[in-house]
Amino acid sequence: MRHDLSIRASGARELMDDPDADLGMLERTYERFRLVNALVSGTGRLYRRDIRPRARRGPIRILDIGAGGGDVCRMIAVRLRREGLRAEITALDADERAVGWAVAHDEGSGVQYRHALSTDLLSEGTRYDVVFSNHLLHHLSDAELQGVLSDSVGLVGEGGLVVHRDIARSRVAYALYDAVTWVFARTFLRGSFIREDGLISIRRSYTRGELSAAAPAGWVVRFRLPSRLELRRDGAIAR
Ligand SMILES: C[S@@+](CC[C@H](N)C(=O)[O-])C[C@H]1O[C@@H](n2cnc3c(N)ncnc32)[C@H](O)[C@@H]1O
Repeated sequence: MRHDLSIRASGARELMDDPDADLGMLERTYERFRLVNALVSGTGRLYRRDIRPRARRGPIRILDIGAGGGDVCRMIAVRLRREGLRAEITALDADERAVGWAVAHDEGSGVQYRHALSTDLLSEGTRYDVVFSNHLLHHLSDAELQGVLSDSVGLVGEGGLVVHRDIARSRVAYALYDAVTWVFARTFLRGSFIREDGLISIRRSYTRGELSAAAPAGWVVRFRLPSRLELRRDGAIAR
């Protein structure tokens, strides 16, 4: 089916968000996120540019909102440990199925997993040096997006960084993802939601202009190759 990618498909629902989704397929999806993220999410760049310089000044606190299976947090934990740097990493997700899977597959990374919303953490009073997300923004309704952005600002102390990273919607991104995942649909991706949900995710994602318009003043949107967006707020001041 051809989709009109000039308009954000905010009404399309990802299969993994269905509370009645097949648990086996959902778990394979969390498992496959690891490779997808290793290939497309730019965690190395996040680590080198935003996390490592802060961790070199002393132990830091990091929060991942919508961490899913938690693999991005574990990748960061491994890199920090390898370089002898210290951080307390919290992986937060609103879906207890994701948190349960992440806990069961952690293998001693030291990451703390929480089934909660960013609002819950805000009221607990802990402040973080880096708050980030990966592939979360397109999941959110307009009201949820504003809530998560506002909470993110409140969750970082003065001088902290918020960086929400997501897909940039484009015909090229859709066509590329469609072609690559079609090749692996009957093998590596079989029995997971990666192909279908990825295509829905691209349709639900923002363009740079849309995300800039949706974000309140003080946020900056950057485009990154191959087709990614970063919504950043540096040195955010707690409310
Ligand atoms: C596409 S997954 C991305 C998971 C992970 N960040 C990754 O890159 O592999 C989006 C995740 O966001 C979670 N989520 C959606 N809305 C949320 C919210 N308001 N607060 C926290 N997590 C949320 C979902 O449960 C889901 O696990």
